[in-house]
Amino acid sequence: MAVADFVIVVLAAGKGTRLKSRVGKVLHRAGGRTLVEHVVRAAVATRPKDVLVIVGHQAEDVAAVITPLGARTVVQEPQRGTGHAMQVARDALRQPAPGKAIGKSAKYALVVPGDAPLIRTKTLEALARAHAASGASVTILSAMLPDPTGYGRILRRRDGSVAAIVEEKAATPEQRQIREVNSSTYAFTLEKLWPCLDELRPENVHHELYLTDAIALLDQRGEKVIAEVAFDPQEILGCNTRAELAEVDRVFRARKRAELMYAGVTIQLPETVLIDPEVTVGADTVIEPAVQLLGATRIGANCTVRTGSVIADSVLADSVTVRQHCLVTNCRLGAGVVVGPFAHLRDGAELRPGARVGNYVEVKKSVLHEGVKAMHLTYLGDAEVGRDTNVGAGTITCNYDGVRKNPTKIGARVFVGSGTELVAPIQVGDGAYIAAGSTITENIPAESLAIARERQVTKPGWAAVRRAEIEKTKTEKRKSKLGSKPSTKKLPKGRRVRRSKRR
Ligand code: UD1
Ligand code: CA
Repeated sequence: MAVADFVIVVLAAGKGTRLKSRVGKVLHRAGGRTLVEHVVRAAVATRPKDVLVIVGHQAEDVAAVITPLGARTVVQEPQRGTGHAMQVARDALRQPAPGKAIGKSAKYALVVPGDAPLIRTKTLEALARAHAASGASVTILSAMLPDPTGYGRILRRRDGSVAAIVEEKAATPEQRQIREVNSSTYAFTLEKLWPCLDELRPENVHHELYLTDAIALLDQRGEKVIAEVAFDPQEILGCNTRAELAEVDRVFRARKRAELMYAGVTIQLPETVLIDPEVTVGADTVIEPAVQLLGATRIGANCTVRTGSVIADSVLADSVTVRQHCLVTNCRLGAGVVVGPFAHLRDGAELRPGARVGNYVEVKKSVLHEGVKAMHLTYLGDAEVGRDTNVGAGTITCNYDGVRKNPTKIGARVFVGSGTELVAPIQVGDGAYIAAGSTITENIPAESLAIARERQVTKPGWAAVRRAEIEKTKTEKRKSKLGSKPSTKKLPKGRRVRRSKRR
């Protein structure tokens, strides 16, 4: 349902002193997004006439987040409380935004705090609908909290009608027992609200204009005041402190996991798994404990992501296995690919179907074609590796010459011996063999063998001589400690048995 007669005002100008941060409160993150982004997304999805975000601290940063979502900012400077923020909104609504002759004509406003990001679109719609149907001057969204500490309390009369909201700091001990709290989300009839705003007085501990005081003013004017209790009290949780921020993050993460599990994903020990809001996962995929799926990651069906792995901004086709403790960022893994354990894939690495990367392998900005195997202790950077090529243990592409990154191109069916260094730019033709331990500095034609290392020298009996020498030295040392005259034949310090020249 679109809330066509409504504008939505998001209160987001406060600094958030209680977070003790240089970052403004609504720019803090929970559930993978800034607080204000969550709120504005929920607001915009109701399709109201206009969404105004009242900003103060770090106004430009807030604008950068919310403008692409279709909301606009209005600056409140200085910030003199939630009632003052609504005075600023009133002035902005009276002068329509450039090119947008709306707002002025709206009959109602939904007011939403920018620091309570769990609010759902359907809850805002239900509040708007209830308000428009009731003919009330204000409908407060309230909630019953097991621990109401820090929130304004709803004061009801014996007959249940709402008389006022009292802030925690002004509440009597009896009033503090009240568990029904103000969410700071309200539906107002604007022609009723506007005159009350001028009557607000800063008579409170913070010397601010409280929007909550407008409730008693409306009631005193004989206007109808209603509080609707939220069905899900978690939706109204605010983020005034780091502890509250962590609690809200926990709820978001639980919501996301529940959504995926409902869609057929297995998540083991779900409370240990962190999944960002945009992530998609196919059915029958198994996510093991302590996994993080971040950013724009998309995972296919029937995959396994094993414990300790972190996957960010990557696309995994179906039946991919990411074994334990891998870091995969900005990669594409084709169907049936197996990586890890302990693999690091990054910066546009692409593994085509059936490719395999094993333990302690780093792949950066490289394409591994179908059937490629790089199973142990390898670095492939700026490389293309052709079909069915085997990359031996300890292979390194020397892609960086101190100035720029150079490419390595390895053909299909190549055998790269263990411990090979490929000094880029370099090309290896199809079907070539590279002997283990080679440092390749020249291109290798197809179907050839390249050996690029010193030839081995073996000296029979050398070891026995060496050991005898060592024994002799030890005996002399012992003798000198016992007080006997030190041998003049002692080896000079630092002397070693000369290494025979190779070749
Ligand atoms: C407010 C309510 C309280 C309610 C609680 C719910 C008031 C006086 N109290 O308290 O009854 O239980 O929310 O979360 O309204 N803001 C501005 N401009 C300002 C001051 C604040 O835009 O000058 C914004 C803040 O950025 C914030 C929102 O308004 O997003 C609420 O302000 P905050 O200071 O967090 O109020 P609470 O103490 O939480
Ligand atoms: Ca708050």
